[in-house]
Amino acid sequence: MERGFLHLNVYFCHSIAYIMKITNALRFSGLMLLLLASTNLALSQTVVASPSGKIKLTFFISPTGQAFYSVNYNGKPIVGASKMGFYLEGRNYTKGFELKGSKTNSLDETWEPVWGEESKIRNHYNELAVSLQNKDGLLDIIFRVFDDGVGFRYVFPKAGGKTETLTVMEELTEFQMTADHLAWWQPGDWDSNEHDYSTTKISKINGIRYANETAISTQFIPDYKAVQTPIALRTAEGVHLAIHEAALVNFPAMQLKVDNATKKLTAFLIPSAGLWRKAVVETGFATPWRTILISPNAAGLLLSRLILNLNEPSKISDVSWIKPVKYVGIWWELHLGKTTWDYSGSQSGQTMQGTQPHGRHGATTENTKRYIDFAAEHGFKGVLVEGWNTGWEDWFGKWKEDVFDFQTPYPDYDLKSLAAYSIQKGAPLIVHHETSASATGYEKHYDAAYKLMNSLGLNAIKSGYVGRIIPKGEWHDGQWMINHYQRVLEKAAEHKIMVDAHEPVRPTGLHRTWPNFLACEAARGNEFNAWSKGNPPEHETILPFTRLLGGPMDYTPGIFNIQFKEYKTDPNNTNQVHTTLAKQLALYVTMYSPLQMAADLPEHYEKNLAAFQFIKDVAVDWDQTKVLNAAIGDYVTYARKAKGTNNWFIGSITDENARTFAPKLDFLDADKTYEATIYEDAADAHWQKNPTAVNIRKMTVKKGDTLNLKLVAGGGAAISLIAK
Ligand code: NOJ
Ligand code: CA
Repeated sequence: MERGFLHLNVYFCHSIAYIMKITNALRFSGLMLLLLASTNLALSQTVVASPSGKIKLTFFISPTGQAFYSVNYNGKPIVGASKMGFYLEGRNYTKGFELKGSKTNSLDETWEPVWGEESKIRNHYNELAVSLQNKDGLLDIIFRVFDDGVGFRYVFPKAGGKTETLTVMEELTEFQMTADHLAWWQPGDWDSNEHDYSTTKISKINGIRYANETAISTQFIPDYKAVQTPIALRTAEGVHLAIHEAALVNFPAMQLKVDNATKKLTAFLIPSAGLWRKAVVETGFATPWRTILISPNAAGLLLSRLILNLNEPSKISDVSWIKPVKYVGIWWELHLGKTTWDYSGSQSGQTMQGTQPHGRHGATTENTKRYIDFAAEHGFKGVLVEGWNTGWEDWFGKWKEDVFDFQTPYPDYDLKSLAAYSIQKGAPLIVHHETSASATGYEKHYDAAYKLMNSLGLNAIKSGYVGRIIPKGEWHDGQWMINHYQRVLEKAAEHKIMVDAHEPVRPTGLHRTWPNFLACEAARGNEFNAWSKGNPPEHETILPFTRLLGGPMDYTPGIFNIQFKEYKTDPNNTNQVHTTLAKQLALYVTMYSPLQMAADLPEHYEKNLAAFQFIKDVAVDWDQTKVLNAAIGDYVTYARKAKGTNNWFIGSITDENARTFAPKLDFLDADKTYEATIYEDAADAHWQKNPTAVNIRKMTVKKGDTLNLKLVAGGGAAISLIAK
């Protein structure tokens, strides 16, 4: 028998002592009474432990043939007895199961991502695969138990080698929490992940306040007792959990229905159009992994690579064209209203009237050149241009299939010469493809659009899915759209194009398999600060522990003109970025992404080139990542070593509370000294009252030294440590 595995077949009516042992695991399901009442049924139980033995997962089948798992952490239950299974059309996969067989396996490997938070990732787990059968068919479940959590997936085997179609009506998977943990969550929206977070006990989860959200273009929250994943949780003892999924392919996204009373979270799959079914798959299909990160502290969640490890290795063999990139672009000026996406007409209600140029178009040849020159001067490797292509007069809120062709530039945008100029200057255009959520419209044109990019020598897109989905009736997070996002990634890979998707489903580690998937939005980005109540100062201290667990985010940090009063002439307008300038710098380190925008306007950076230097210097690809301190929703401090160099960058951010930190530089090389440049909040800075006051100081440091950092309310600190 392999170390870490224990197989038991317990005739539990014969062993009262054993019943006492499993009491804890079963306590939360109410199942124990049922078990005790029956006398001569067999209970099949299998335990699989993580490599260190800290985490133990138990799989068992109840007397009625229901499949269950539970998880112990350091000898105590952390997930109580939780049901597994499915409702399939014509098949009941919820009970009547017998264990037909089980297999174990182990892996300990180290692999190298194309880009990432670390250049080497260890994948170390013990695996248990069980084969179940009931009168309706076969179901396999594969469990992987790591030292930082567990993952499991279902497989629908091909009975007798035959391919059959299965209609999934609902998934039964439960996550039985053991107490009323504190949770960081956003509501179970079928169309958007762009809400701010709530922090409540499980017993208080109720998303009704989100009904008043007006800034999200498309939202649908039918059940206030459902939440998105990743959800982060903290027990009274300080154990941290995060529930999410890995490798979401050909299946709807999973949300969680919350039972406030029993603290049970139950899988809820986003429906397909017509609402009655969740997914259609064929036998042979393996579902995404359901994942539970388990850590003694908040930092452990950030350092877990479990979700990536559960994704398959890269399917792109030549990855030489995939490059992390810092970019600038014609973007924030559109959100501020300085210029517009559209070229002609004037606003009348929701639509544009007329075809005459109104003179406020942002994506002109001249303006784009200005950005390219700025990028070249300051070392940025990409220039995003939004509003370059025809269609913007006709897109917003219309729910039309044919709006954009992604090939025809506006008359004042010389695509060809700009592409050539941008390449010559070392800052190639990043091509914007706003699909207006017409996924079918996009699929009509993407081949030709990518070919056009190939012919121009451009290799990065930013896509977007603002609006209600076409095909009508589908949801952003349903199976049809999951397959669409996948088709885009694969089609783009064929054309050697990197993808940054906005408004897609939240990521699940697929960038391991498709490293051209550089980043996505799928959360509330900095843009909300431009035109809505914005993102509260705690927002960026929650994202790393929730949304970012699935993959990088194109958050678009780096706003220097925090209050942008000159663009908001209405005296009652209170929009502003809800951080200090120093915190905007720190976000380049705390919000991990291989794609980072310097989002503000060139003229705003030109007024503060000293602070801009940090954005120019900071890396976007890393050899190592350390978390120096962390508390979800309060603060986080990261130190990261830039790939292939001896330089480190530190980012430290706080919520609405001022804090002091004294991080120790014990991760530096003993035989080197470093020039530290510290960009910090001025003593009188404050995210609302005085956001742009920043101090910059330099000092020489070495391993073991301590930094003294003072972060003001909504503030942060960014530090570059350049090896001498
Ligand atoms: C929403 C995206 O998040 C934003 O970045 C983009 O500018 C607009 N859609 C327009 O496509
Ligand atoms: Ca968005």
